[in-house]
Amino acid sequence: MHELHVESTDKAEIYKEILPQIECLIQDETDLIANLANIAAVLKAAFGWLWVGFYLVDAEKRELVLGPFQGPLACTRIPFGRGVCGQAWAREETIVVEDVNLHPDHIACSSLSQSEIVVPVRNRSGQLIAVLDADAETTACYDGTDEYYLNKLAEMIAANQA
Ligand code: SME
Repeated sequence: MHELHVESTDKAEIYKEILPQIECLIQDETDLIANLANIAAVLKAAFGWLWVGFYLVDAEKRELVLGPFQGPLACTRIPFGRGVCGQAWAREETIVVEDVNLHPDHIACSSLSQSEIVVPVRNRSGQLIAVLDADAETTACYDGTDEYYLNKLAEMIAANQA
């Protein structure tokens, strides 16, 4: 059994504390859903964001389908290119939205959400298999620090995923 240890209050320091713990957590487990479920739990506990979780690529339907998450209920499917998640998938890049109310194609799963970051998650061959989505109740919650460390986290998942 693992227990999460977070002592810092500074955002970068929290990432530096939790990333090695996540690495330990996933290194001996190859099941993607189990690992994503624990990662969502760790991020929620460490940062207290409104919603954090994963949407998985459904290649056949060309949609994202809801995966492991922590937070209020969310929309189940997002078409390719739609919403911030679908755009991050289509562009294969991280998207940071400081104010979702000003974003032209934001899909509001919760009216409490004010800012958002979406990070592509790949497998070891570089194929995009999911996106990590985090939503906060404050505007401009996410910045380059989150982008940097959440991409490090995505690389960890990729290294572990055939
Ligand atoms: N806001 C996202 C949809 C997912 S929920 O926020 C959990 C989007 O615009 O893609």
